[in-house]
Amino acid sequence: MVYQKLAKGELLEIKMASNSRPPPYYENYAYQPENAGLPRYINGHNMYPHYSPPYYPRSVPHYIPRVSTRQSTPVPTIVQPKSTKICIPRLRKVVLLLSTAILVTGMVIAGVLIWYFVTDSCSGSKIQCGTLGVCVSPSKWCDGVNDCPNGEDENRCVRLYGPDFLLEVYSSKSKKWYPVCYDDWNDIHGMTACEDLGYNSNTYLSSQALPFITGSRSFMRLNTSAVNVDLYKKLYSRWYIYTLSTFKAVGVHLTMWCLCDAYCGISSKVANPRNRIVGGSAAGLGDWPWQVSLHIQDTHLCGGSIITREWIVTAAHCVEGLHSNAFYWRVYPGILTQPEMHPPKGYRVARIISHPNYDSTSKNNDVALMKLQSPLLFSDFTSPVCLPNPGMMFQPTKPCWISGWGAKRQGGNTSKELNAAIVHLIEPSICNDKYIYNGLILPTMICAGYLQGMVDSCQGDSGGPLVTLKNALWWLVGDTSWGTGCASRNKPGVYGNMTMFTDWIYRNMQANK
Ligand code: ARG
Repeated sequence: MVYQKLAKGELLEIKMASNSRPPPYYENYAYQPENAGLPRYINGHNMYPHYSPPYYPRSVPHYIPRVSTRQSTPVPTIVQPKSTKICIPRLRKVVLLLSTAILVTGMVIAGVLIWYFVTDSCSGSKIQCGTLGVCVSPSKWCDGVNDCPNGEDENRCVRLYGPDFLLEVYSSKSKKWYPVCYDDWNDIHGMTACEDLGYNSNTYLSSQALPFITGSRSFMRLNTSAVNVDLYKKLYSRWYIYTLSTFKAVGVHLTMWCLCDAYCGISSKVANPRNRIVGGSAAGLGDWPWQVSLHIQDTHLCGGSIITREWIVTAAHCVEGLHSNAFYWRVYPGILTQPEMHPPKGYRVARIISHPNYDSTSKNNDVALMKLQSPLLFSDFTSPVCLPNPGMMFQPTKPCWISGWGAKRQGGNTSKELNAAIVHLIEPSICNDKYIYNGLILPTMICAGYLQGMVDSCQGDSGGPLVTLKNALWWLVGDTSWGTGCASRNKPGVYGNMTMFTDWIYRNMQANK
């Protein structure tokens, strides 16, 4: 019931926050003809307008007997108009031409359809299995069950694991993920792996051997003598027990990392806990280069985070209902103040994908993806944040940063300049306490803020980033989702738990390349 109150409170706040301009609202009426006031036919009168029967030339010429009379004045002879005579073959020609045109158009349409379904990638956000034109939904990819005719959905599974971007491949036989050995690995293999993750192959950066760690584990190794071109068919698993001496003796590099986009998580910001969104301070250009402002009708509605040149992560509740149409949105990267955001600087959105299990009442799975119509130009002020790889752990109370153009106090207007503040992660068990959120925090959510209040995200910050610094890179820990009021005591901010969504994000990027 706490949430019920929250929902009403939020509505009120949204209205107050945007009191300078009315919230955008679209209604599609069916097309209305201009002369809607045509005269009506009253019962009893002929309902249908009167048309005189058209003139059709008779197809069979009739014999008109000529009777000679004695009349001296010449009898006017009925001369059939010339055009009527040549009309018959012309009509045939027209019919013939028309039917050929229809036939040709039909064949072209059929050809395009066959080409689309057989040779082109899958429609409706599905991933193509192989060349057979079979498509499966992203959720069936790498789930341990064969759905493609040749099992491609389980054979082309690759992921980057942990904070070191360790390259791992899934074995459908043992249903386990294995790190890949660096030996014999080359950039072509790296590009294939990046493409299978959903990145463009031309954004592959490099693969490098990782410092050696002793232990025992199974790995995937490349069989260089294998002739087939398919990377995954060249991999076989090997069990290694390795110490520094065996490593030197065998001479293999046991693990490697692989980077797919140019880079991620690099900011000019030196983590500096100036503590003043609510309780934050104005950000500098390039401090949070992944932060974007999402507009509808020239009005900031939500925040978002850049993860690749073409993809933005935001909250599913930002793109709900009428806002789910990609056409209305504009994305503004690399700009600090709202008045500087004008449509020519905005990027258009090609597609919006909301998490299929998003629940608007509980805010479960509050995450969505926006694919841009044209790729972003990366610079010091526009660059991606790192998506948390599976296997990444953040300490339970780790300091993080939030940023956005949201209200600076509960019920306030959205802010003109970008603000940021430092917050701490709060353990789910604490956040679910009876006096805090009383069980409303689900595994897809993560709390951050202060139990004493004062510093928090607020209306207008939704969809924006909650990030943390780890191994010298900035990682997207969450997306701003909800909270009771803003910066109130015992009501910290609630964010989408990004580690729970990484798999879904990669699969959907792959399905919508
Ligand atoms: N739902 C809000 C939005 O759409 C974000 C609210 C965050 N609230 C909080 N107390 N942290 O902008």
